[in-house]
Amino acid sequence: MTTLVHSTLDRFRARADGVVASHPVVTDNRFTRWFADGAATDAEVRHLTVQFSVFSHLFVEAQLRKCINATTLESYRAGKEILLNELGVSFNGRAGDDGVATEGTVDGGRFKFGAAHFEWLLRFAAPLGLGFEDVGKPRNATAATRRFCDELLRIYGSEDPSTAEGASYAVEHWAAAGFWKELIAGLTAYRDRTGLPLPLGFWTWHDRVEDQHAAHTADELADAHGQPWFDEDRFLAAAQEMLDGVQGFWDGLWQDHLNGADA
Ligand SMILES: [Fe+2]
Repeated sequence: MTTLVHSTLDRFRARADGVVASHPVVTDNRFTRWFADGAATDAEVRHLTVQFSVFSHLFVEAQLRKCINATTLESYRAGKEILLNELGVSFNGRAGDDGVATEGTVDGGRFKFGAAHFEWLLRFAAPLGLGFEDVGKPRNATAATRRFCDELLRIYGSEDPSTAEGASYAVEHWAAAGFWKELIAGLTAYRDRTGLPLPLGFWTWHDRVEDQHAAHTADELADAHGQPWFDEDRFLAAAQEMLDGVQGFWDGLWQDHLNGADA
């Protein structure tokens, strides 16, 4: 029986991984590939920062919805680990080179305003000449970024658990597939070229954390797959649609680059 359950799960996991691995946002992200070379102008780095800040801020809202819609106390708590960490409670695990842990729990931890990921991004944005009013709000977004954020709330924040799980699985596996490294390469080159004192902690910390997020959602899939409510087709459709949404975000930035748009 166990073998049968596992082989069914393994087969489904392979299908889910296939959706992610073959999606153009994973195989062919023109924006991040170009950005990694470090040729972005001041205006383009500002534009990326503003658009990413809106996504990153609205992700917090989607994560809260994920907690509200969780099907078990365990998955509710797993969602809150991410939510509270995002808002400013550090994990209690061993700190990395930047002094901030990517492992452990927020349980029993202490909230600090400055530990919110959004505040890391504010500190990155300041030397670029971007202030609090310039970042993180829906009104700072382009139409493409807005559409992506709406999709995130609709799919990742869905009340249907199969849909929400499919979206999480897709988002975390996409995020672990290397786009952070491309952005870090481009931003490092830009910082070195301009001499601006840009703290890259927001970007490097997320790159470090992603591998284990992907592992968590793989565990979540194993739990979810055996539940009576689980629907394989809705999970896969959500994964696909969520990645289409992510792709819309990067395609928007690529179009803005081609059009020479300013931040
Ligand atoms: Fe974050």
